[in-house]
Amino acid sequence: MKTNFWKLTVNGSVLPVLTGKTDADVAIVGAGITGLTAAYQLTQAGKKVVIIEAKSLGESASANSSAHLTTAIDYHYSRIFTKHGKDAAIAVAGSRMGAISFIEEMSKQFPCDFKCVSGYLYSETGGDIIEDEFWHATEAGLNVSLTDTLHLPFYVKKAVEFSNQAIFNPYKYLSAIAQFLLDSELCEIYENSRVIDSRNNELFTTEGSVVADQVIYATHYPVFFNIHQTLAYPYRSYMLAAIAEEDIGDSLYWDTAEPYHYTRTYSFKDQKYLLVGGADHKTGHTEEDCYIHLENYLLERYSIDSISSRWSSQFYEPADGLPYIGKSYSENEYIGTGYSGDGLVYGTIAGILLSNDILGIKNQIPGDIYNSRRIDLIGSAEKFISENIEVAADMVRDRLKPKKAHSADNLNIGEGIIISKDGKNLAVSRAEDGNIVEASAVCPHMKCLVRWNHLEKTWDCPCHGSRFGPSGEVITGPAVSRLK
Ligand code: FES
Repeated sequence: MKTNFWKLTVNGSVLPVLTGKTDADVAIVGAGITGLTAAYQLTQAGKKVVIIEAKSLGESASANSSAHLTTAIDYHYSRIFTKHGKDAAIAVAGSRMGAISFIEEMSKQFPCDFKCVSGYLYSETGGDIIEDEFWHATEAGLNVSLTDTLHLPFYVKKAVEFSNQAIFNPYKYLSAIAQFLLDSELCEIYENSRVIDSRNNELFTTEGSVVADQVIYATHYPVFFNIHQTLAYPYRSYMLAAIAEEDIGDSLYWDTAEPYHYTRTYSFKDQKYLLVGGADHKTGHTEEDCYIHLENYLLERYSIDSISSRWSSQFYEPADGLPYIGKSYSENEYIGTGYSGDGLVYGTIAGILLSNDILGIKNQIPGDIYNSRRIDLIGSAEKFISENIEVAADMVRDRLKPKKAHSADNLNIGEGIIISKDGKNLAVSRAEDGNIVEASAVCPHMKCLVRWNHLEKTWDCPCHGSRFGPSGEVITGPAVSRLK
């Protein structure tokens, strides 16, 4: 039942694998919302673009989102005020309004079920956090109001309503833009073409390469080794699509629980689906069944007829609450990362900012708040230190005190363990057909030991979030090569 909900709603086409050598003004690694937005802007300005996607269109993150387009932020405006001040909060709110307007304008050319709706940040138990966010969002220039009347079938103590939020179908949106780009003949798009190396101005996949003057790593998180991997931290989030007796309308909802839950609906083929997400945790750091958590959350609040899809996604929390968008530490390379749970809006902002940078267009966001090269010691110190200490601890802890077994004999189907064999750490799992599958347990990125993710049946690295299939193939970077 683990399916990508959005991909069921569109007949997407399969694009070719990159073979041989090609060239472009700009190579974009990653065909998600950052990459396609940038490609659209660049081709409109006459640039030749090649997009190389490791998997398929939007598959790494954008089409795994629950697709809330919001000026409200996961990080909350109150914390932006504390860490960055009022001007930055105004700039965040303004840039997010701009991104939603951009998608709305694009949706006229690329139909994607876009609709303006209200969004509600609510608490089931207390009002302080709501009033605090209401005050800070107001100060940031947003159109917000307080209410305790929501169209939800359970008790809500207090909520702040954000006007002018939006919903859409991210896979429809990306598919339509991709087709437009291909038709423009200024853009080539390749799927199932993971970049495994980069030398001078050339990117290499297993079967081909691209020579380009500029490179945008629209990979959600930088690949290879990159200083930004110490500034953004991988988390997973889970989603369910259910059929419920209650109709909660088209609004967006986010609660204040820890971890929080987010809710919206989507209508497809005369059926309205309730999409609920949450149960976030640091990648490689939970043994809870997050789908059961979400099911229980749903069953306690709605009358559920059935659950039709379950899927999950990865996102990256920035050290100081704001994404890093701009030049990497190489002159001709650009990145966008640390979008938190707000990837579709920040990805759109990144696509616009990065393409503007390449085209020499001055960006209009005050204060350069998303500058990728900022060193914000005040804003990021606490999270930077705690997250990187945890990475360092993960690196040594698993090696010194590993949860290892000596045999896989008792492993059930769908289970995985690390075993020690001839002085080596092996990642061993039992497949559906009953066969044992083995790979090295050492992550090729920076040598942490991977951990079994029993929900997704993957090996996840607790250090920077690389993920691998049972036999070691890369699912998510920053690693670009498989487990040995
Ligand atoms: Fe960095 Fe595994 S992702 S060590």
